[in-house]
Amino acid sequence: FFQQKVEPILKGKNIVITAGPTRERIDPVRYLTNFSSGKMGYAIAEEAEKLGANVILISGPVAIDPPKNVQFVAIESAAQMFEATLQYFEEADIVIKTAAVADYRPATILENKMKKSDEELILKLERTNDILSELGKRKTHQFLVGFAAETDNVEEYAKKKLQKKNADMIVANDVTTAGAGFGTDTNVVTIFKRNNEKVTLPMMSKHRVAVELLKEVNECLKKGW
Ligand code: CTP
Ligand code: CA
Repeated sequence: FFQQKVEPILKGKNIVITAGPTRERIDPVRYLTNFSSGKMGYAIAEEAEKLGANVILISGPVAIDPPKNVQFVAIESAAQMFEATLQYFEEADIVIKTAAVADYRPATILENKMKKSDEELILKLERTNDILSELGKRKTHQFLVGFAAETDNVEEYAKKKLQKKNADMIVANDVTTAGAGFGTDTNVVTIFKRNNEKVTLPMMSKHRVAVELLKEVNECLKKGW
């Protein structure tokens, strides 16, 4: 007569999720950033928690509230995200990097507000650390998931990122597709796995994408990946 309770699939798993954009300061009043809304990462954090995981959400500045029952770490720059991610990496079973990390930052942060002049202005930028690549080099047992927002050649670029960053999965989306990408509540993604498997999902809510993705990750872990 009694229905058996099903164990949530991610029970006891430690998951680190990075989300949102980063902010790279130019001077006390200006910064460089991108259009990331944080919605995909926050949806994954919420669904992972519901599936029983211990979730740490490391996020750049976004307009939405963090889900309940997740450990929230607010950061601003790519360097801060790198530091925070490394701090939790060793204990993590799964790391999901939805964050749109700035690839470049101003080479110097001006102490005082920059004054305009009549000359053209050239801003000197330097590379930030590629966090996912660094994690790929350091991973021992962690399952690494990256995201790739592309505007063209999605499959080719996604597969290259999978290889180059030593990730286990890359979730790719074409941000020029209707219903996908920045700020929307839906997404259209293809999941590329290290074993050359490819899973194409139709347009669905970012929460559904989150659940489907977490199921795929769980299937991989169950197979002993
Ligand atoms: N990423 C990261 N650190 C960076 C840049 C990107 O960890 N400094 C991660 C992102 O969080 C994402 C994945 O790498 O999970 C792919 O990011 P993307 O910007 O698509 O790729 P890049 O390697 O930066 O290449 P490009 O922007 O030139 O396409
Ligand atoms: Ca990039």
